[in-house]
Amino acid sequence: MRRCLYWTLPGLVVAAGLHAETGRAAWLRYAALSDDSARQYRATIPAVVVTLGNGASIESARRELILGIRGMLGRTLRVESRVPAESAIVLGTMGAIRQAIPELDAADLEPDGYWLKTLRTGATRYTIVTAANDRGVLYGAFALLRKIALGDPVGDLDEKQSPFAPVRWINHWDNLDGSIERGYGGRSIFWEDGRARADLTRAGEYARLLASLGINGCSINNVNANPRILASDFIPQVAGIAAAFRPWGIQVALSVDFGSPQAVGGLDTFDPLNPRVAAWWKSKADELYRAIPDLGGFVLKADSEGRVGPSAYGRTHADAANVVARALQPHGGLLFYRGFVYDHHMDWRNPKNDRARAAYDNFQELDGKFDDNVVIQIKNGPIDFQVREPASPLFGALEKTSQAVELQSTQEYMGQARHTVFLVPMWKETLDFDMHAGPIRRPAPTPVKALVAGKVFNRPTGGFVGVANLGLDDNWAGNHLSMANLYGFGRLAWDPDLSARRLAEEWTRLTFGDDPKVIGTVVGIELSSWRTYENYTGPLGLQTLTDITGDHYGVAVEASERNGWGQWHNADEKGAGMDRTVATGTGFIGQYHPPVASVYESPATCPDDLLLFLHHVPYTYKLHSGQTVIQYIYDSHYAGADAAAGYADAWRMLQGRIDDRRYGEVLAQLEYQAGQAQVWRDAVTMWFLRASGIPDAKGRVGHYAGRFEAESMALEGYTVRDVVPWEAASGGKAVVCAAAQCAATLRFDGAPGWYTLHVQYFDLPTGVSRFRVLVAKQVVDEWAAADHLPARKIDGSSSVRRVIPGIALRPGDEIRIEGVPDGGDPAALDYIELHPDTR
Ligand code: GCU
Repeated sequence: MRRCLYWTLPGLVVAAGLHAETGRAAWLRYAALSDDSARQYRATIPAVVVTLGNGASIESARRELILGIRGMLGRTLRVESRVPAESAIVLGTMGAIRQAIPELDAADLEPDGYWLKTLRTGATRYTIVTAANDRGVLYGAFALLRKIALGDPVGDLDEKQSPFAPVRWINHWDNLDGSIERGYGGRSIFWEDGRARADLTRAGEYARLLASLGINGCSINNVNANPRILASDFIPQVAGIAAAFRPWGIQVALSVDFGSPQAVGGLDTFDPLNPRVAAWWKSKADELYRAIPDLGGFVLKADSEGRVGPSAYGRTHADAANVVARALQPHGGLLFYRGFVYDHHMDWRNPKNDRARAAYDNFQELDGKFDDNVVIQIKNGPIDFQVREPASPLFGALEKTSQAVELQSTQEYMGQARHTVFLVPMWKETLDFDMHAGPIRRPAPTPVKALVAGKVFNRPTGGFVGVANLGLDDNWAGNHLSMANLYGFGRLAWDPDLSARRLAEEWTRLTFGDDPKVIGTVVGIELSSWRTYENYTGPLGLQTLTDITGDHYGVAVEASERNGWGQWHNADEKGAGMDRTVATGTGFIGQYHPPVASVYESPATCPDDLLLFLHHVPYTYKLHSGQTVIQYIYDSHYAGADAAAGYADAWRMLQGRIDDRRYGEVLAQLEYQAGQAQVWRDAVTMWFLRASGIPDAKGRVGHYAGRFEAESMALEGYTVRDVVPWEAASGGKAVVCAAAQCAATLRFDGAPGWYTLHVQYFDLPTGVSRFRVLVAKQVVDEWAAADHLPARKIDGSSSVRRVIPGIALRPGDEIRIEGVPDGGDPAALDYIELHPDTR
């Protein structure tokens, strides 16, 4: 039996070695420590591991310790089932350990909390990993391993940790066909062709990653739920996934459709007040819990974005939540009812309409009407995971209702897997934000983290939910550096007081090792990356200026306007921003408690970062810095694009310090991001220049040294096309090829010398077009446009930059770009740029 353990986790054993640096092992690589560091631990880590108790999570804890210590120290712990007379690591719950080692003092430990304690009796030293429950023992084992990996001392331990909140959940928006809504790291690890995957290895590995952070629940299907998830013949599929998660102490949960009583139950109604509907939910929950006794509960999105809900019968959200929650209650299940409810057919002509108001307007008046096992799950901001939003006012408005904050690590509006954006600094701003929700006479701080954890109003439950959406890609997220977001989310859910720097450092060391130059560079990139991304995609609270009705990826400044989705920024020729004041605007600011509302209500006290989220001001309005709004928009975009270019440069300095595969993959991602940041920069600044008519005081916007538009080159076969939206292409135009092959040619008449040539082209996923660059008839580069970008047409999403350094040019040289279209990809070109090579 014991021997099996070496064979049950083959992927992990390989991943823990030096060679397979695919990213699959993420932060649990257990890479061999340097000799010095290993020597120190070899002196303190005993040769034996003892497990008291045989719960699945305790078994996992023991396996993990053996795996980790073998990987890091090159030693294989001997397994024993009784506490030996020699030094040992002892794993077990408090009760079990105190029976075997009565010298251990009793300690009060909260569920899931752990205690790492060194106990000496004579020359014997026990390293005790204990907890109130099995899951806590597993968390303690991971914590011990993390200490070793981070180089922290473990010779004299006495550390008790408890999770900040009981709810530390992940949501997955996976569809049963294996696709993932807003997933950027490949197909679903859970589902394939309408069933659970036959091979759930990755699901098991994922559960292990989550457990290492202290995550204890995970919903496994899209919030836009397929009712089939509750069909009786489907339950074994769910049970299979729950079994893969169970050894890691993670409860599986399901997203459910509110129309299920009708859609799968065959009733003629789903009215929450109809007793037949209540009975259906109850018998469905009973049936599920017979198959999956540790099911965590349900997630419910109702009356939002086209999902059915209680409004169909004139009932309230409380009616809807309670009918489902009452079915789960006898089994200890929770119902997460999403606060993300709004009307997406709002009339944009009415200046009082405001989507930001929706969550509060829908739920505040129902406070106190929800059962105790209902948790209102609230997105961090009042709109939808934008690059900058204030904390949702709903956090401060629920006193008799449990709540959870929903944070999105999948980076839907944050560059997806293609831009490195470390979200922990943003999340911390929300979690630390004081909502001033407590009683007026006792003005203690009531930060969002304390509210959602139930600490302010003594709620029985609540906490943190992260939307992760990882997939089957080797590196899970589609981008190695994006994994810091899942790591950061999980660690914050355990302890929201951890700093962003500490989390970035931990993650970097665990992921890339302890080379100080690597750590300094990666941490520097991660910590500045949110501000960088904000700078080039939507500063001052404008929100992410992306294609709201498309993939939420590329630039499209007006996509949010004049439609019912309500992500409006109201930028026109005079000014920008949403007037959300009580005095003259939508009244949204009035949803905050007075100490917050009074700061937000006046532009004079409103933080610059949120100015245009909360106020409509003219472009000449002066920020606290003294800069005008328009100049800030210009400057921030240039700063953002420069910073993104700097990331790629900094990463290049790490060559040889990181394994080649991950080095190359991250470099490609950062170089792409640098190109995209420039696309964003040019698009947004040109849009605001055209709208405002106010030139950039630094003369950059609209003037691009060394740039030659493709439409003004000599064209063979290529034809000129207007791009929509116009700002997504330089000059508003591109050239497209409808022939078998086309070319765009330019005669160089600049100073002779070495140049770097940038070719800005478009890559559509519908085909693999090819490009060739010739200088003075000599081929200097060729490539296939084979990326699978989140793009549907020629616009900012499909715009890509190719950088060709080291080109010698003399006046009169012909620069010729040849394009060969393929499928629906017309080998389109935007422009070329020539930059004198200064190296
Ligand atoms: C966003 C996202 C949707 C998702 C929704 C939600 O709007 O684009 O894909 O379904 O949020 O959180 O329910």
